[in-house]
Amino acid sequence: MADLYDLHARLVARLDTTEAIRAAFADHPRHRYVPDLIWPDANGLPLRRTADPERWVSCVYAFAPVTTQANDGGSGPVNTPSSSSSHPQVMADMIRAARVGPGDRVLEIGTGTGWNAAILSSLVGPTGSVTSVEIDPDVAAHARGRLDATGVRVVHGAEIPEGGYDAIIATCAVSRVPEEWIESVPVGAPIVVPWAPSSEHESTPVAALRVRDDGSACGAFVRDAVFMHDRTQRVSESPFPGIGAEPEYERCLPATSDALVDARLLTRLMLMLPGVRPGVGARPFEGDIGRIVHLGTADASWAYVWPDGTVTGGGERDLFGELAAAYEALTEAGRPPLEAFSLEVDPKNGVRRVRAPDLGVWEHR
Ligand SMILES: C[S@@+](CC[C@H](N)C(=O)[O-])C[C@H]1O[C@@H](n2cnc3c(N)ncnc32)[C@H](O)[C@@H]1O
Repeated sequence: MADLYDLHARLVARLDTTEAIRAAFADHPRHRYVPDLIWPDANGLPLRRTADPERWVSCVYAFAPVTTQANDGGSGPVNTPSSSSSHPQVMADMIRAARVGPGDRVLEIGTGTGWNAAILSSLVGPTGSVTSVEIDPDVAAHARGRLDATGVRVVHGAEIPEGGYDAIIATCAVSRVPEEWIESVPVGAPIVVPWAPSSEHESTPVAALRVRDDGSACGAFVRDAVFMHDRTQRVSESPFPGIGAEPEYERCLPATSDALVDARLLTRLMLMLPGVRPGVGARPFEGDIGRIVHLGTADASWAYVWPDGTVTGGGERDLFGELAAAYEALTEAGRPPLEAFSLEVDPKNGVRRVRAPDLGVWEHR
């Protein structure tokens, strides 16, 4: 078996980031943080390190996330990931967006394995501090053990522990940035957080917000991501409205489902279509299995975009019309990247506003 420290050095070499962040990753080999039991296959069975050490190592040192808990630690008919070690590049990008440096007092929401907190502790150095909050008692206990030598304070729960902070990095996605977070850091401080309009949304792009003096926070999206949602903000997933429904219309979009997915347009379209939940699935199509984009709303409107650009759908809301208009506007504007979009949140007044210059402003309710 390959040497674990060599594998870690290779993982670190792949990071596209600053020298300081790369050095902090180098201090903390990933295998010291990932637990022995992992979940290599989406919704599949777990793998114990002792049962197949080589496979465990290949998962830990893949340049990818590693699921480390399913079903909040319980059992269920489907194994739904509930804790993980995030994708290393996503971690590096979030740390960079938070501009963490020596002397900073950082609050992490979502300790998970403890790996990110360990890396943060190297970056803040002896004059800074890292506090990390984890809602799951078993996950918190594991991380506390692994973080023993780093000086990271692991707190079990979902409340913000007392203490002063200069930056917040959340490694679980929220739909509503809590007022408490904004109040915990000074004006101008970063809150780097994966955001989606609801926990039913798969895509959770990361926003780098800055706190403003009126109690709101605002900032650009820095990258796309798929994070687990904050457990305190979960809404029970409603079944996709299109399943089994007879289409009420069939129209044609100037884009195929593959084009929407491959051009990574879905997250931007999600930001431009408040109340619409996009996702990607597979359906029988012309004797094969085709990739489809599905859109759904809380009032049971739905649409499927098929591999030939046909759109079938139904319900009160004209999702074809909304999707076609958003797609056309995005294309006419030269398809500005996700980084051109920004998020403004004002928890006191219930504001969640997305903006893209020359393209529009969208209120998410
Ligand atoms: C993607 S994992 C965190 C990855 C972690 N930072 C690491 O380096 O391994 C997300 C974690 O957030 C935790 N979590 C979810 N909601 C939370 C909340 N409201 N407060 C604290 N932790 C939460 C989950 O239990 C899970 O362990």
